[in-house]
Amino acid sequence: MSKEIEITVDGKVRSRIFPGRTLAEAAPHLEGYPEIFIVHDVNAAQYAESLASLAGDRVRGLLPVEATEEEKTFGTVLRIDRWLMDRSADRQALLLAVGGGITTDMAGFAACIYKRGIRFAFVPTTLLSQVDAAIGGKTGVNFDAYKNMLGVIRQPEFTYICPEVLETLPQRDFLSGAAELLKTFLIEDRKGCYETSAALLKSLREGASRKEYAAEIQTLVMEAAAIKAGIVSRDPYEAGERRFLNLGHTFAHAIEHEGNSGTGPVPAPTHGEAVAMGILLAARLSESLGKARPGLVSRLRKDFTEAGLPARCPFSLESLAEAMERDKKAEDGRIHFVILREPGAVETVSLTVAEAIQLLEYK
Ligand SMILES: NC(=O)c1ccc[n+]([C@@H]2O[C@H](COP(=O)([O-])OP(=O)(O)OC[C@H]3O[C@@H](n4cnc5c(N)ncnc54)[C@H](O)[C@@H]3O)[C@@H](O)[C@H]2O)c1
Repeated sequence: MSKEIEITVDGKVRSRIFPGRTLAEAAPHLEGYPEIFIVHDVNAAQYAESLASLAGDRVRGLLPVEATEEEKTFGTVLRIDRWLMDRSADRQALLLAVGGGITTDMAGFAACIYKRGIRFAFVPTTLLSQVDAAIGGKTGVNFDAYKNMLGVIRQPEFTYICPEVLETLPQRDFLSGAAELLKTFLIEDRKGCYETSAALLKSLREGASRKEYAAEIQTLVMEAAAIKAGIVSRDPYEAGERRFLNLGHTFAHAIEHEGNSGTGPVPAPTHGEAVAMGILLAARLSESLGKARPGLVSRLRKDFTEAGLPARCPFSLESLAEAMERDKKAEDGRIHFVILREPGAVETVSLTVAEAIQLLEYK
């Protein structure tokens, strides 16, 4: 069984990540909160109800929200805060968000601004939110056409991770999280977890059941969570190392933008699918710069394909360039591209979008 993980900021423990085999094992972590308000994804209602029954009459209500990027708005955050206000939530309150990254991002943000900030905690119900979104304290919503444009960084009280909730997750959403899992081990990998994950994902693709492999999945999820927690503890406000977590993401955001513009394949790529394609572009960029280990791109392509992830981007580099120019992480027209040397070894290079595209075209 994996161990509890701590996130420290400025030398103090600010957040804890608790592993468990079942939702029922979350009970001790809900103790000590006199009033609990549960905001949950409509598709994770059964898990929210199980958690509510563990906390009994300390639960003051359950609020379902739709987990779509269209609903991930300030309007929904205000609806959550009004719901808290109508129930006279005070500074003793704990907001417990149960769902994937959309739900934890929105509910976390609502908690951060309600009465200048109340306590909040997460029970992530997607693979992506278990390894990524529910760890590190980034909360927020989309604004105009821009993803996650409004938000704050503040750590949850705790994140409770258990494999039981993944049983109902649709395959495409599971794979979306698989891309972030692989991404984490491409950034840092002391225990050969990249290799193990790729093999496990291949077995799942070939018909093995998630239930049968729940313990193995949980071990890898907690390893990935520990890596992210370590990076966040060392760089909570993304001044340096935390940028590595953006591996593939500059390209991925542009791919998602193009996908949602209706010019590409239907349905549009999920975030994780876009991340998989983005990682491959980052590896190609690394190759063009002469920094990648020989065979890196073909190895990744093989692993991603065997896992069921896309290995080729359906959009032209020119069409991605414009979307990348608007990336909110651009500074003076330059972007810190995270590039991969080999699994477990990354670095950043500062390039303009035009330079990056030229290098990729040359390849
Ligand atoms: N805060 C961060 O650091 C961070 C990091 C990465 C991603 N994100 C954000 O996370 C969001 C994506 O989150 P996500 O991929 O976790 O998923 P999501 O919240 O978009 O959910 C994906 C789908 O799965 C459904 N679902 C969730 N849990 C389920 C379950 N257990 N069973 C059945 N269906 C279930 C949802 O209703 C939804 O239809 C994006 O908005 C992204 O910006 C945030």
